Amino acid sequence: MELQMWREILCPYDLAVEELKLKFVHIMNEYRTAGRYSPIEQVDGRVKSISSILDKMQRKKININEIETDLEDIAGIRVICQFVEDIDRVVEIIEQRSDMEIKTKKDYITKAKDSGYRSFHVIIYYDVDTIYGKKKIQAEIQIRTLAMNFWATVEHSLQYKYKENIPEHITEKLMNAADAIVVLDKEMSIVRDEIMDAQNSFRKKANIVSEILSTMQNLYKVANKQEVIKIQDEFYKIYETGDMEQLIHFNKQLDIIAEGYRAQSLS
Ligand code: GTP
Ligand code: MG
Repeated sequence: MELQMWREILCPYDLAVEELKLKFVHIMNEYRTAGRYSPIEQVDGRVKSISSILDKMQRKKININEIETDLEDIAGIRVICQFVEDIDRVVEIIEQRSDMEIKTKKDYITKAKDSGYRSFHVIIYYDVDTIYGKKKIQAEIQIRTLAMNFWATVEHSLQYKYKENIPEHITEKLMNAADAIVVLDKEMSIVRDEIMDAQNSFRKKANIVSEILSTMQNLYKVANKQEVIKIQDEFYKIYETGDMEQLIHFNKQLDIIAEGYRAQSLS
């Protein structure tokens, strides 16, 4: 098949990957804006390369006319979580969305693959709008923890290097590493609550600080410069104490001052 044909086939998949990446990143941002813990830590995506498609067609005896139905991972999204518990949250999020329809779920976490691979896969149907109209395509979403991702990345690069003939002693090391990853994820879960608390208060603080900075920036435009500099010094002092209550109080006071200027400029 001609390269031009491939490009045209893959075009809607490229759109799907871009849209899906954006949507998952946005879910993460929405949680963080609300000062809440995000079950999503990182989002990745890719369209399968033509050579990988050809490889897989050969391996699975898939006819060229069947690739769009039989190759479920032409569009691939990877959602990385901090904790195993977050994976179920992400699956629930996908289940509840109106723009993603789940075809199949594959749980390689409860039961890892023989290779030691662990991940949760969800195949979805997803509509994209093309110049020819609406097109329903399939996409594979891999959901895994940072630790699982680390293992899969290392294993994948070894597979690539050794072309499926990975030497025995390396396979053994990989299996040991896979076991260690399970233990690591379990230990992470134990400290999950503590870590979540710490991250939440860190994010809340970051949100308040960014509010303060933007109010001060606006004040610069309307207020007396000397006064703004005084306010800024005051802010630095409070910031250094690291006291959340004081920051919240300062933010409120600053809002009142800013409100005053707004009223003045309107009158
Ligand atoms: P392929 O494995 O791609 O042939 O598809 P499949 O229909 O067998 O689906 P499966 O769920 O087994 O695998 C889908 C994807 O999961 C793969 O393309 C890989 O990205 C990933 N994957 C599956 N098994 C392994 C593994 O043992 N190691 C690594 N690193 N990744 C794996
Ligand atoms: Mg497979």
